Amino acid sequence: MNITFYGHSSFSIEAGGKTLVFDPFISHNPKAAFINVLDISADYVLLSHAHFDHVADALTIARQNNATIVSTYEIANWAQANGHDQVHPLAQGGQWKFDFGTIKAVNAVHSSSFQDGTYGGNPAGFIISAEGKTFYYAGDTALMYDMKMFGELYQLDFCLLPIGDNFTMGVDDAVIASDWLKCNTIIGMHYDTFGYIEIDQMEAISKFEAKGKNLYLLPIADTIDL
Ligand code: NI
Ligand code: MN
Repeated sequence: MNITFYGHSSFSIEAGGKTLVFDPFISHNPKAAFINVLDISADYVLLSHAHFDHVADALTIARQNNATIVSTYEIANWAQANGHDQVHPLAQGGQWKFDFGTIKAVNAVHSSSFQDGTYGGNPAGFIISAEGKTFYYAGDTALMYDMKMFGELYQLDFCLLPIGDNFTMGVDDAVIASDWLKCNTIIGMHYDTFGYIEIDQMEAISKFEAKGKNLYLLPIADTIDL
């Protein structure tokens, strides 16, 4: 699976012949501003929660690609109210088989509201299976015991975890999360975008390394194949 990082918690992942874009926050992120959102293609746009640093470019990308927005009921309604009808509402605990594979929505410990204060439902993470691989996109979340359950129920090939602290887990909790998830291949997200979430990248990598794990901190616009 090709995974491209667009900064913050924004990724594009090619799975089962389709392109999944996660939490696009690109045009408003000075560090990712060199990326032209109009160049991003997508079949699906997955949104973990309604915070602006996760949905900023969602409608633009979904519209230009006629892509399906997969998110909570409330966020799907928001997309429709903004003129994008192609949505799939998915609630925590529910899964759906799409043409590329399966998405299961799971809990996240965080909050979820739009910039104007409108309720965005509960925040979510996603467990996705395609091409015989399974991965977990955690969204914004604290360390939580559910992760132990995900490790028991799924064989996770890789996990995308927030590591920036302050608004989400920090590095130390993310190391514990990866233990509970029984996963040794971690892609870091939600770090170094703004002041509250700056990390020491070398220290973060070595903390994972000490547990026999790989932490990938991708340069923005870089692609890896996992
Ligand atoms: Ni958030
Ligand atoms: Mn966030």
